[in-house]
Amino acid sequence: MEKSLIVSGMRSTGQLHLGHYLGVLQNWVKLQNEFECYYFVADLHALTTKFDKTEDLKQNVEDVVLDWVASGINPEISTIYLQSLVPETAELHIYLSMITPQNWVERDPTLKDMVKILRGDLQNEEKTSNICSYGLLGYPVLMTADILTFNADYVPVGSDQIAHLEISRDIARRFNNIYKVELFKEPKPKLTQIPLFKGIDGQKMGKSFHNDIKISDSEEETSQKIMKAITDRSRLRKNDVGHPNECEVVFDYYKIFAPQKIDEVKYECENAKRGCADCKRELCKYVNEYFKEIRENRKNLQANPKLVREIILNGSQKARIKAKEVLAQVKDAVKMYY
Ligand code: TRP
Ligand code: SF4
Repeated sequence: MEKSLIVSGMRSTGQLHLGHYLGVLQNWVKLQNEFECYYFVADLHALTTKFDKTEDLKQNVEDVVLDWVASGINPEISTIYLQSLVPETAELHIYLSMITPQNWVERDPTLKDMVKILRGDLQNEEKTSNICSYGLLGYPVLMTADILTFNADYVPVGSDQIAHLEISRDIARRFNNIYKVELFKEPKPKLTQIPLFKGIDGQKMGKSFHNDIKISDSEEETSQKIMKAITDRSRLRKNDVGHPNECEVVFDYYKIFAPQKIDEVKYECENAKRGCADCKRELCKYVNEYFKEIRENRKNLQANPKLVREIILNGSQKARIKAKEVLAQVKDAVKMYY
């Protein structure tokens, strides 16, 4: 039996952090054995909000791919590609944009939030221009094109992307209805329960919040960041009893990176037998151990820029084979002259 097909992407925002690894990449790695996977770097989507800040775009693309491959996305098994190197997606976007009612995109709550960020109503330091462009309005349509370019069965996403994907399903159905074909499947979300992974200040980990630990950080950088993490705020001295459950970052990290230690940490913390600095120092060791192999993989790969480029170009070429098939069917359905 043919494997079901999966498409998922990430905007090219540069080096990824531990939250990306735990929330998304680990899941992508697991999926690649069971499904035919297409994973892409969404560089065109990056332009929807950063069209005027492109100086790092090329480097960002390679950084994302480095993090993926180092984390176990295997380019021999999955197809890793760059969105702009599969122009069939952009072409499909045009056809889909013609049949998408304007109010469908205007109603998209995720898009509304993005617009609020751009306008400065919501906090986000990453914003550059405050223009809400025609292209940004098309964000969910381009996302639909990404998915339908390969006629995907499933799209692994976090819950924040569900609203976009709802539009994708509507557009797929509408295309089939209008052109009286049964071309597109309605892509189903494959929800990943992304546990909120906190940055060292206790807020959600994010690049724009300057509270993230990168996959590509050195052991020293990682340790420096962890040593600055907030702990139980009511605990001022080592002799004070601590409350691990109020220690949002350090104790939570123990749960993930050294689950075998949590009983001991909890006991010693609650009985004032463990100081926070020592507790963090020990945690640094576990976090660095956890990412040791991935970081070594990344270093080796980074030392071979030709190989990274080859992965991107070969994957994109491979993706185009399938994309061209689908696009021919689309043009046929629309009755374009070709
Ligand atoms: N919008 C997604 C995000 O911000 C990225 C993305 C673009 C995507 N196109 C996609 C995800 C297609 C899944 C499928 O995370
Ligand atoms: Fe947190 Fe460890 Fe300090 Fe307890 S000892 S408050 S778990 S850092």
